[in-house]
Amino acid sequence: MPAIVGKEFGPIGFGLMGLTWRATPPSQEQAFEAMRAAVENGCTCWNGGEFYGPPDYNTLVLLEQYLEKYPEDADKIFLNIKGGVNPQTHQTDASPENTRRSIDDCIAQLKGRKKIDIFEFGRRDPAVPLDMTFGLIEKEYIQTGKIGGIALSEVRAETIHEAVKHTAVVAVEAELSLFSTDILENGVAAACAQYGIPIIAYSPIGRGMLTGQFKKWDDLPQDSLLLSFNFPRFQKENFDKNVQLVEKVEQMANTKGCTPAQLAINWTRALSRRPGMPTIVPIPGATTAGRVEENSKLIEISDEEMAEIDDILAQFPPAGGRYPEIFQTNT
Ligand SMILES: NC(=O)c1ccc[n+]([C@@H]2O[C@H](COP(=O)([O-])OP(=O)(O)OC[C@H]3O[C@@H](n4cnc5c(N)ncnc54)[C@H](OP(=O)(O)O)[C@@H]3O)[C@@H](O)[C@H]2O)c1
Repeated sequence: MPAIVGKEFGPIGFGLMGLTWRATPPSQEQAFEAMRAAVENGCTCWNGGEFYGPPDYNTLVLLEQYLEKYPEDADKIFLNIKGGVNPQTHQTDASPENTRRSIDDCIAQLKGRKKIDIFEFGRRDPAVPLDMTFGLIEKEYIQTGKIGGIALSEVRAETIHEAVKHTAVVAVEAELSLFSTDILENGVAAACAQYGIPIIAYSPIGRGMLTGQFKKWDDLPQDSLLLSFNFPRFQKENFDKNVQLVEKVEQMANTKGCTPAQLAINWTRALSRRPGMPTIVPIPGATTAGRVEENSKLIEISDEEMAEIDDILAQFPPAGGRYPEIFQTNT
């Protein structure tokens, strides 16, 4: 079982973003069922954000209400929370004031039902030196036992090399999927392996694309944030190219007797055993108990199958960037 800050959790985690941050969030009853299914199926590394949804219904608020109902689950969950966005500017703000505000607000929203095991800024703030932010968090929050450790999110390799000089980086959250293999080549995965830092792999099913449920562009939910924010890979022209990779993944999953989502999720795990790779924990997001259960299944992928996937990836590189330009990336 993977472990961070001395706490173990299941090899496949759970992303909570879609439960509160989307055009139409699911009912709380449905969200609770999905969360319960995650615990029951061992998906206990939970990933959420202060800015996942409005302040009165973000991950922390949902989680607090869930734990009010199911207090016995608190100790089973390993909680990873992103924060650090300034509520006025909507930009990453690692000033001491906003760092304290963000962590204090997250802790307050949980009302003592659960400790935050790892905290991270969603993106690095280029205006504030890392040692200043880490020093504050260590002194005021880690040494006082308020949070467990510091992680990084959506960073470039140089930031990891710099950060480890100033603090114990306990995890790096990075996009990794059959659509987004960038971190395998840009030094991020190598840096994590060098320092023994686990990767929390976000969007492991390509934001839903790799489930194979969208055969044509019109199948995408038209109220999806991916369309309203103009995510390049979901623009019609790119989508029509990207669906070719999905078809190949689907064919391979059919032959293997699993679902495309299961193949995609477990491929990220299987990368961990390659030389020079760190531990990788995928955190698929889903809003129904059935999907969570499907995504929780551990599937072994042989070296031959990994090689076959490499060939497919070489033939079908993704069309379009990971993010629209307004989003900070590789920070
Ligand atoms: N650090 C960062 O910058 C960052 C960025 C993005 C995400 N994340 C984290 O990563 C987590 C996962 O990423 P993600 O939600 O972007 O992408 P993802 O996990 O690759 O895909 C989630 C999408 O796939 C759908 N889905 C999941 N399982 C399915 C299944 N078995 N069958 C059919 N559809 C299925 C979900 O639908 P429904 O939701 O409708 O069920 C959702 O639309 C997030 O919750 C968040 O915690 C972090």
